[in-house]
Amino acid sequence: MSRKPLIAANWKMYKTPAEAKAFVDAFLPLVAGHTRDEIALFPSVTSLATVVEAVAGSNVLAGLQNMHYAEEGAYTGETSATMLKAVGATHTLIGHSERRQYFNETDSIVNKKLHTALIHGIVPIVCVGEHLHEREAGLTGSVLLAQLKGALADIKPADASSIVIAYEPVWAIGTGKTATPEMAIGAHMIIRAEIANILDSSVARAIRILYGGSVKPDNATDLLDQDEINGALVGGASLKPDSFASIVKY
Ligand code: 13P
Repeated sequence: MSRKPLIAANWKMYKTPAEAKAFVDAFLPLVAGHTRDEIALFPSVTSLATVVEAVAGSNVLAGLQNMHYAEEGAYTGETSATMLKAVGATHTLIGHSERRQYFNETDSIVNKKLHTALIHGIVPIVCVGEHLHEREAGLTGSVLLAQLKGALADIKPADASSIVIAYEPVWAIGTGKTATPEMAIGAHMIIRAEIANILDSSVARAIRILYGGSVKPDNATDLLDQDEINGALVGGASLKPDSFASIVKY
């Protein structure tokens, strides 16, 4: 099964363009010639053009942390798919738990954004994951199922090959509490089975499912060595070039 791992840096609301450029300048030599995994950086919107320019010609890709579903319009503060592509970016995160939590992003909005990303040929990383109280109540499976059903509504299997899913349990994000490989594998298997139901089994086999939530250099190997874990979405530990490079080279 050739699911090339994707190791992605979600910088959240950190780094000015100058800081982003300094990161890339230090990071590229650390991962030069690394072809086992895809590598992508997700800076803030104001640093995107700088990062795209700085990674040009390298083995590192760039995307946005969020994108609006509309083609254009009166949506103050938002960024369209066309704008993302015009800058030269290729990827977007969709439905990160922080967007769901603080910006009221619902499964239906996630679904609209996914349709727009696919229409524009932008690689979407759709984030799903349960809260601690849901895990403790035994609801992890049903939460993931509902999020996937919502996100993938009316997506055709033939259009789905570029979709990446990131399993990010909310209780593991920014807390230092990582899911064990067993917990992540369990969730990834639920996600893959559900994608087979909603789309089809060949999409489910091929789709990459990343793990995110307190991935650090010292736990990356345990997680990423698993066949079911096809990469990582890294927050805090992606902010320093050496730390993110050592995760990439787990
Ligand atoms: P941390 O790696 O800081 O826990 O963040 C994970 C995350 O939200 C990546 O999208």
